[in-house]
Amino acid sequence: MDLILGIETSCDETAAAVVADGFKTMSNIVSSQIARHAEFGGVVPELAAREHLKAIRFVTDTALEKAAVKAENISAVAVTAGPGLMPALLVGVNFARGLALSLGVPVIGVNHFTAHIYGAFLDCPPDTFSDPGLYPVLALVVSGGHTALVLVRQNGSAEIVGSTLDDAAGEAFDKAAKLLGLGYPGGPAVEKAAAGGKSDRFRFPRPLTGSTGRAAGPEDRFNFSFSGVKTALLYHCKNHGGAETMDPGLLADTAASFQEAVVDSLFLKTADAAKHFGAASVVVSGGVACNKALRERFASALPKRLRLVTAPPKYCADNAAMVAGSAWHTFKKGGAGSAELDAFARLPVLTEVDFCGNGAPA
Ligand code: KG4
Ligand code: ZN
Repeated sequence: MDLILGIETSCDETAAAVVADGFKTMSNIVSSQIARHAEFGGVVPELAAREHLKAIRFVTDTALEKAAVKAENISAVAVTAGPGLMPALLVGVNFARGLALSLGVPVIGVNHFTAHIYGAFLDCPPDTFSDPGLYPVLALVVSGGHTALVLVRQNGSAEIVGSTLDDAAGEAFDKAAKLLGLGYPGGPAVEKAAAGGKSDRFRFPRPLTGSTGRAAGPEDRFNFSFSGVKTALLYHCKNHGGAETMDPGLLADTAASFQEAVVDSLFLKTADAAKHFGAASVVVSGGVACNKALRERFASALPKRLRLVTAPPKYCADNAAMVAGSAWHTFKKGGAGSAELDAFARLPVLTEVDFCGNGAPA
């Protein structure tokens, strides 16, 4: 049995997890810094790095303890190398390098973006990726940092076929929450405020979906845009005398209508891309995939011929199990090495994912 210890510090969660043979999560510890950043209305990178430094040892020890695994029995240490906030990433990368060196095991750098896709498969049977019926996979990665559609083929080749032109969907939720005076982080706050609200009371824009009668140009067919819906919400609040004066019913209807516009955009683009690229399955993952309205829409409206793999909520938001799990596939391919491991802030051009492939045909 291969035991991979995963470490994640790319943003505001210090996380560690132990995953056996890529699919069996033995522990998954997440320490959130949200309360520390809330007063600033967003994540402050240097503060995040300091908080990671304080928490990382304890979080890692707890992950090993919960998994009932001794550090000496770890096969490799996996760590998020990027994309993310550089000061925050460096804490995890340096900690992982030191730990791996002291244990005499390899350290594996993991792409946080593709690890989010892997999060949807963590509890799946180990032969999941060898099933040709799964491919092509169209993955919607929808988080605070990213909103993108990724096409993954059985040979492991991967391509971003659509992404946001401005804000990520999670960012849009966070900004909407700020406008509505709901606090940080925005996604869960907007979802809570939307409960019981009428999602069809206000019609917020769904840019690039053709909802205004003007279809997106071919170059933007699978791209997203959320700045328009945010601006529309800003004017909506102004027109209603400001969010602070809204009665609970109006606030709930506003939050529900905003949420519906974002869900619509995400669903319409994904469904269109799945059809266009002949996908066999659709993955929904990343922090925004926690959103129940989004999950329900995909579950009810996606054509039944498509296999839907939605990340379990515990693997949607940032966690280290997705890091350890996806790294196991790299480990099996012998792709681990410490020398080249370095942190990177931005998403590099994506050409492959490590967890599929193994010489399979395209
Ligand atoms: O994946 P994640 O934890 O971190 C990044 O890699 O960015 O995603 C965080 C984002 C935040 O923008 C947060 O507001 C959003 O996910 N989010 C949600 C919900 N829970 C978290 N958005 C909508 N509905 C939710 N329930
Ligand atoms: Zn993330």
